[in-house]
Amino acid sequence: MDQAMVERLIETAISQLKFSYAPYSRFKVGAALLTAEGKIYTGCNIENAAYAPTNCAERTAFFKAVSEGERSFRAICVAGGKDGVLTEYAAPCGVCRQVMMEFCSPDSFQIILAVSREQYEIFTLGQLLPQGFGPGNLQ
Ligand code: THU
Repeated sequence: MDQAMVERLIETAISQLKFSYAPYSRFKVGAALLTAEGKIYTGCNIENAAYAPTNCAERTAFFKAVSEGERSFRAICVAGGKDGVLTEYAAPCGVCRQVMMEFCSPDSFQIILAVSREQYEIFTLGQLLPQGFGPGNLQ
């Protein structure tokens, strides 16, 4: 992925912080998911008074994309922090990593953790979910 695309995904993820619905944790998260064809789907976290139904920004982006027919993905950028202030990386939770495992190759899918356009780190899904269980295991 070229530098311009990395920066575009970071800017898009950060731009989603304003939509975050996080009245309980006040931890706002934004995500930008890049499809194989180059389309970007966005997401934010959506909390709930019953807590458990909370949806992370990453899964919001995935579910929006998959519900519109997308099945092939290249990368996701995630940015988050208390009250939307970005000071450190917000890495995907285990549930979100498992959702990524359903649709993405652990060797090639890129997860960009970002604090700003200048401060970010890129991991493969396999690095964040080693020995992941996926659709291939059921064949
Ligand atoms: N959260 C995300 O949206 N993505 C992450 O990568 C980490 C956690 C959300 C869930 C919840 O609304 C809040 O952050 C605190 O856990």
